[in-house]
Amino acid sequence: MQQKFIIDGGKPLIGEIEVQTAKNATLPIIAASILTDEPVRIEKCPHLKDIDAMLDIMRHLGASVEFDGDNLTICCRDVLLNVINSDLTGKLRSSIFILGSILSRCRQAYISHPGGCEIGLRPIDLHISGLKALSVKIADDRGVICCDGSEMRAGVVNLDFASVGATENLMMAGALLDGETVIVNAAREPEIVDLAQFINAMGGRVSGAGGSVVRVTGVKKLHGCTYRPMPDRICAGTYLAAVAATGGSITVNGIIPEHVFGMTERLKQTGARISVHKNSVRLTASERPRPIHKLETNVYPAFPTDMQPQLCAVLARARGSSVIVENLFENRFGYTTELAKMGATITVKDRVAVIHGVEKLSGAALNASDLRGGAALVIGALCAEGRSTVYGVEHIDRGYEYLEQTLAGIGASIKRVDI
Ligand code: UD1
Repeated sequence: MQQKFIIDGGKPLIGEIEVQTAKNATLPIIAASILTDEPVRIEKCPHLKDIDAMLDIMRHLGASVEFDGDNLTICCRDVLLNVINSDLTGKLRSSIFILGSILSRCRQAYISHPGGCEIGLRPIDLHISGLKALSVKIADDRGVICCDGSEMRAGVVNLDFASVGATENLMMAGALLDGETVIVNAAREPEIVDLAQFINAMGGRVSGAGGSVVRVTGVKKLHGCTYRPMPDRICAGTYLAAVAATGGSITVNGIIPEHVFGMTERLKQTGARISVHKNSVRLTASERPRPIHKLETNVYPAFPTDMQPQLCAVLARARGSSVIVENLFENRFGYTTELAKMGATITVKDRVAVIHGVEKLSGAALNASDLRGGAALVIGALCAEGRSTVYGVEHIDRGYEYLEQTLAGIGASIKRVDI
């Protein structure tokens, strides 16, 4: 059933929230549970559309999947070498990184090309060339990527770009190979560290995660384990940005503050006051945001592309003009035409957006067409005067758990309604 959010904006948000578990850490951890034939228990697994899509793939591969409240148990006693077809990969573009774990366990894998994406092309060349460097033979049979890993060997992989998904794929690919797999120019995102810790909790030997060279020493067998993935730094950043936009004060609990440093430093530039504690960050904002001269997205620890739309929504009401440069995805400003329906003045050319802040946004009917762009529309609606309707809630549900309850808990007027 399709749903929409109805938001009455213009209210300051005040209160405390507990951040959810990270989607982008949990997805590869679920994929990595194929590496063992024993049960794996994932604690505090978030209930999200993307997680459901990954679990559909796991079931398709023969895994048993069971939720007990927020705890998820996955057991992949045997792996069925079914083709993962496009109805499954189409729902989750990042499904490509499951190739590494299937190959490591079975030495064969078949997956439909994940295709394009609303925020850009999302090519998979780095995944493919990385696996080829481990002697996997790869052929494309009418859109199905067929991988033969019968001669797969540990080796050195040089990534041309520090891709998060390719690094994760290769870490999983190397986990059960004889010898040491070295990933050079690896992504350094905290989610990579989390995956390494998970593989090690299963008895694996991964070192260097969080740095540019990750070493994976293969082991004969991995065992089951219980693991709690890291907190969601992008959700934390989204709630902080919402309050920077609406005014008010928020304490986000259960986070690892250094994970959000790239975002909090930028939010400070908008005039918000931020105090960092052991596992929480408090943000207070009392006036119209200040503009940011130039904000560029980049790989961790720089400002993340997954927070770019939400910050743009904050800057839409700034007392001056800001520039955002998107360096990771070529088509990530689609949501700006929706913000414009509320009165935002944003000009986009290629990967650069110029935002002329306006004093007020006004409620409007808005269409979310991707996850983080959808979050930006919610932020815009929360600080707009009057009522907004946000359609395309299914995109937002891919990554935000209990969004409307969380926002209502800090004073927002937001309702989910069936269409
Ligand atoms: C992950 C995150 C996503 C985030 C992104 C960048 C997950 C599930 N998703 O996506 O939310 O926005 O990191 O932080 O963790 N590229 C290639 N060839 C490839 C692979 C990637 O050219 O084979 C390019 C992409 O088009 C993009 C850039 O590299 O321009 C970054 O992509 P990557 O780091 O791979 O992102 P994902 O792992 O897909």
